[in-house]
Amino acid sequence: MIFYFIFILFIPNFIFADNIKQKYETNSRQILDYITSGEGSGLAYKWLSDLVDEFGSRHLGSENLERAIDYVVDGLQKDGFDSVHTEEVPNLPWWVRGDDTVEIIEPRRQKLNALAIDGSPPADITAEAVVIRDFDELKDHNITGKIVIFSEKWNGYSKTVKYRSSAKRLQNEGAVGVLVKSIAPFSLATPHTGSGATGSRIPAATITLEEAEMLYRIQSRGKRIVVRMLINSHPNGNTTSRNIIFDIKGREKPSEIVLLSGHIDSWDVGQGALDDGGGLAAVWSALHSIKRLAEKNPAFAPKRTIRGIFWTAEEQGLLGAERYFETHKNTGEKFIFVSETDQGAFKPTNWHSALQFSGTVEQMKRLDEIVSILNDYHIPLSIQQSNSQGDVQFWSDQGIPSVNYISDKGKDYYFYFHHTNADYITIFEEGDLEYTAAIFAVIAHVIADLDNWL
Ligand SMILES: *[C@@H]1O[C@H](CO)[C@@H](O)[C@H](O)[C@H]1NC(C)=O
Ligand SMILES: *[C@@H]1O[C@H](CO)[C@@H](O)[C@H](O)[C@H]1NC(C)=O
Ligand SMILES: [Zn+2]
Repeated sequence: MIFYFIFILFIPNFIFADNIKQKYETNSRQILDYITSGEGSGLAYKWLSDLVDEFGSRHLGSENLERAIDYVVDGLQKDGFDSVHTEEVPNLPWWVRGDDTVEIIEPRRQKLNALAIDGSPPADITAEAVVIRDFDELKDHNITGKIVIFSEKWNGYSKTVKYRSSAKRLQNEGAVGVLVKSIAPFSLATPHTGSGATGSRIPAATITLEEAEMLYRIQSRGKRIVVRMLINSHPNGNTTSRNIIFDIKGREKPSEIVLLSGHIDSWDVGQGALDDGGGLAAVWSALHSIKRLAEKNPAFAPKRTIRGIFWTAEEQGLLGAERYFETHKNTGEKFIFVSETDQGAFKPTNWHSALQFSGTVEQMKRLDEIVSILNDYHIPLSIQQSNSQGDVQFWSDQGIPSVNYISDKGKDYYFYFHHTNADYITIFEEGDLEYTAAIFAVIAHVIADLDNWL
């Protein structure tokens, strides 16, 4: 404390390019204290448990999702946020999961632990299966009339997920069905669902790591494998859902927007607590904390508007965010910073934690000063350039600075649970939601206040 004081006292101001750290350190620490150990701590967990326990998973087209949206909007109004409202997102592809059975018929009978892939058509087919490790192995097999089973190697999510959307390609090569080893690094007999079969004429499902690898071994012994896919899941036309928008209105530049976001929809398995209930809870807590602090001390009232958005239909391909982008790009509002958190609202526990950043070098330097305030608070976090910004990709593509938060646990651990029946709030440990919220609250507070951000 003493050293810190001397440091501030004796280093002349002109040494700092922007003085961001010096100017915002005190307020930022107050925000961090408030959320991680003060009055704001524990609120995000309560907010999230109320949501996921009362409404459960929030699959597009389900009553759960729309009722959860009404409930969240009601809560935001009670919190006293500005401009709380929803905006409709029409023409969304609706798909309903049925009671599906995937079973080995030969060389012995066993029901597989499977989850149909979004968009899969219904079917009842029994066919010989071919197990392959990757697309290259297709050339070694005649897959006409066969069910293709992928037992691919996990190579990180972004490089492995392509197998989940292989149905249309395989259908064109003559396959009659596809089973994909779940896109995950680890399994406790948990199949992972996800998007990938919209528009396919052949049924598609994921199976567990354990069973996919077993089938590969059985085939390696020269055994013939026959599988039955009885899929009752089916596309169900279009549906409509809603994005949720809420603000803390800026006191000087209300039409300049600092956006924090996550998505409210989920798959129909588990509780959608990790993906992406935790992201919502962190965004909510960040805005809620700034609002409560501002009520006590006007220094926390943002100059620009801080906006929270909970997107719908993310899981079907960022459809809620895309709609919002299309319908808002020509309004008088100017988005000056956008962010999302959708890879686990975990507390950073080591230096693999990062803000994936897209923007100019100047903006990155400013963000780095903000991050150094967090680092001094013992939050290990770095900044990495990235072009993969999830729901806020549309703004990022327009050159608007953006951040996508990925903690160390977001890289692998997150994918243990992702899109499974194990996606329960139980995954979060003490401090996870708080630290995620605190990181975003500090970033939003400083950027909403900075004169020279853009
Ligand atoms: C369903 O949505 C698609 C894609 O958004 C659209 O092209 C189509 O016209 C819609 N169908 C109906 C019947 O509204
Ligand atoms: C592949 O299998 C199908 C069905 O058994 C057969 O009609 C076709 O000729 C085979 N193609 C090749 C290249 O062997
Ligand atoms: Zn998600």
